[in-house]
Amino acid sequence: MHNDSPHVSRRADAYPDLDHVYAQCSGPGGLRLAEHMAEAMGLRNAATLVDIGSNRGLGTCFLAKEYGVTALALDPWEDREDSRPMVDHVADNARAWGVTDRVFALRAGVPDTGFASRSFDFAYSTTTLEMIRSLQGEAGYQAALGEVHRILKPGGVFGLGEPMHLEVPIPDDLRPYVTRGDFSWAECFSDLTSTVAQVSKAGFEIVHAEYAADATAWWDEFARHDPFAKADPDGDPTTLRVDAGRWTSFGIVIARKPDAGRD
Ligand SMILES: C[S@@+](CC[C@H](N)C(=O)[O-])C[C@H]1O[C@@H](n2cnc3c(N)ncnc32)[C@H](O)[C@@H]1O
Repeated sequence: MHNDSPHVSRRADAYPDLDHVYAQCSGPGGLRLAEHMAEAMGLRNAATLVDIGSNRGLGTCFLAKEYGVTALALDPWEDREDSRPMVDHVADNARAWGVTDRVFALRAGVPDTGFASRSFDFAYSTTTLEMIRSLQGEAGYQAALGEVHRILKPGGVFGLGEPMHLEVPIPDDLRPYVTRGDFSWAECFSDLTSTVAQVSKAGFEIVHAEYAADATAWWDEFARHDPFAKADPDGDPTTLRVDAGRWTSFGIVIARKPDAGRD
């Protein structure tokens, strides 16, 4: 399940200001991750997509602009930096990208989205559901997956991209770093095999699952460009340096809601 071929970004390379990208996205990979996921999900022009945990919505705008989807960005929280609702940032980015006709934002989250069953062609979520694991435990994580399944149309595709750990125990010298603070990585991160099992349990067929070949490069970019990482070099950048790729990774699961069966 490990992908050894680094993905060649073509569309994301058109947005080379990584300080800006990482200020408007949150988590490793930025638009390279969005492109990698979009290709793996087979996004198509004019399809509907719900982005669960959009943050400021730069990724959402990228998917709308580059792949032609009509996207609904879902985010319930306020921004850590300026306390504005995330959805206001999404609206600003949609204006800046010229995609206000294709990007909409709603202040809501999983597992209680309020959408009718069978609403969307695609669901997309990056660096979000692992936080729900920390807040609401495995039951909350499973409930979130169940909601994603419910709101997808039959045949709809779910792309999940998540910080994960490799299938090894936490190295002893790394443990103090990944167990510190709120949303500690040890509390949030799972492994690919367990995640695949949880996605299957929610009713999905697994189309593709991998530890991204680019995981180390994406985390490295994050350490160098994310504004919170830059402001706190003893935090995540140090964790990543101590880890040196032994435990921390990034997993991707692409799954399909079967044509027939339960909502
Ligand atoms: C790390 S950010 C996601 C990054 C984003 N996908 C991107 O590409 O920039 C996690 C987001 O999850 C949102 N969030 C928190 N609880 C949520 C919930 N129950 N449902 C959906 N999103 C949630 C937070 O507001 C935050 O913006």
